[in-house]
Amino acid sequence: MKKIVLIGDPIDHSLSPDMHNAAFKELNIDNEFQYSKLYVKADELDIFVKRIRSKEFFGANVTTPYKSKVIRFLDELTTDAENAGAVNTIFIKNEKIVGHSTDGLGCINALKENNIEVHGKKILILGAGGAARAISYKIAFENPKELIILNRTKWKAEELVKTIIEKMKINIKAEGISNINDELKYTDILINCTSVGMREVNENIKLPLSSENLDSQMIVMDIVYNPLKTGILKEAEKAGCKTINGLSMLVHQGAIGFKLWTGEIPPLKLMKEAVRRELE
Ligand code: ATR
Repeated sequence: MKKIVLIGDPIDHSLSPDMHNAAFKELNIDNEFQYSKLYVKADELDIFVKRIRSKEFFGANVTTPYKSKVIRFLDELTTDAENAGAVNTIFIKNEKIVGHSTDGLGCINALKENNIEVHGKKILILGAGGAARAISYKIAFENPKELIILNRTKWKAEELVKTIIEKMKINIKAEGISNINDELKYTDILINCTSVGMREVNENIKLPLSSENLDSQMIVMDIVYNPLKTGILKEAEKAGCKTINGLSMLVHQGAIGFKLWTGEIPPLKLMKEAVRRELE
């Protein structure tokens, strides 16, 4: 059996096993592949990678808080992982343990699935963590008219902008998230890559934006998928914007890993339904 595991802390809430195991079953490869969660402590990351090396595990997904911490134990990084400074997918290639980041392409593919082009548009990205970095790079490569990265901790957005400018010529700037209202004008697409949506319900977190400052022409995407309708998406709906929840991106970023591990074309629709069933 080829075992794929998800590591992180916490991982209880993750729906990746439902998504991948449903897909293995659909393609009749569930006797060959199995996906499960594995609780790993921060000081056990090196042991975990050794377990991949010894072929106990065939591949892995990595989630918070290990996306950056795991890097030093891997043999190689893909360019996407290097740019993101984060790894969410691990696979073996030529006996090497390779770290990859599928968040950026997953986000672009989720936009494409919704017939949304980034080229020539004004894009606002909220956040400057691992997911935001991966997504910002991929968006930048699509040649938008303007890219603005806003983060609560402004210097992290500035650092990200600096590394992107070093690699390509693009109209880009960093801002503190409190300046969002000044930047929203003429925005075509806003993507929330902060973890605000995940926690606002439990922790009374203040949303970074409100419906009054949104325009109905805008497209608002949240990469948080649980809950499906985050506070930010509720505000966007109130303003009449087109909204995209985190489900599409979850499936598309997972599908890239699925293809790397199995070599099979991922059954996207079925994977989405498997997650939706669990969420509803
Ligand atoms: P991930 O790997 O999922 O991107 P992360 O690297 O921990 O997670 O990044 C979390 C992002 O959410 C960061 O941009 C963080 O902002 P800071 O850099 O200022 O910490 C952002 N974030 C988390 N809680 C937030 C809040 N209450 N308001 C605004 N931004 C928040």
